[in-house]
Amino acid sequence: MSGRKRTGVLISGRGSNMSALINACKKTDYPAEIVVVISNKPGAPGLGIASKAGIPVKVVDHKKFSDREAFEVVLDDTLRQAKVDLICNAGFMRLLTQKFVEDWRDRQINIHPSLLPAFKGLNTHKRALEAGVKLSGCTVHFVRTEMDAGPIIAQAAVPVLPDDSADVLAKRVLEAEHKLYPLALKLVASGDASVQGEKVVFSKGQTVHGPYIAPWFD
Ligand code: GRF
Repeated sequence: MSGRKRTGVLISGRGSNMSALINACKKTDYPAEIVVVISNKPGAPGLGIASKAGIPVKVVDHKKFSDREAFEVVLDDTLRQAKVDLICNAGFMRLLTQKFVEDWRDRQINIHPSLLPAFKGLNTHKRALEAGVKLSGCTVHFVRTEMDAGPIIAQAAVPVLPDDSADVLAKRVLEAEHKLYPLALKLVASGDASVQGEKVVFSKGQTVHGPYIAPWFD
């Protein structure tokens, strides 16, 4: 497919969502290609996975910079050198400044392991269990300065079962994440999804939800 959106993936760790995106991009009719993977952590396991897949990897170690702004200048430069159109945050554990977020406004998306706006931040699964919710899931959204907030592109729901531990629930949600993120990137890269009045609208008019809805919601 010509005109595929050049996509940079930001990671800090394991990189399983990054892998799901890399796999999706193998399809020749997929509207995005991963042109660079950048980690702020030198030892991130995801770097090895991306290298093996033949994708250029870069480390921009936040610890080597005196402040957030200096780190982001190099991050931004690395993305621009790779001629990136879109950024996917995939387990990227750095908060970004307003400048960076605005510079990439509506061109940067993130995945979060909850049904936003519930359970922003860390320890989502533990908090979901403590709250006694019966459905959890994941959300892909455009990035805004507020953490884990911004126009929602797609969500997938999974059941919370009575004996779930945070780890078991995390695993079930992660499986949904791996399906949802490629779907959301496809919608954005193809131009189907766009932001209007801080809500995502779809040019083809479809209502998008994830592939994993609790079975009794069919
Ligand atoms: C995922 O659960 C993602 O939603 C969250 O961080 C985790 C990253 O996992 N933002 P991985 O690195 O993609 O395996």
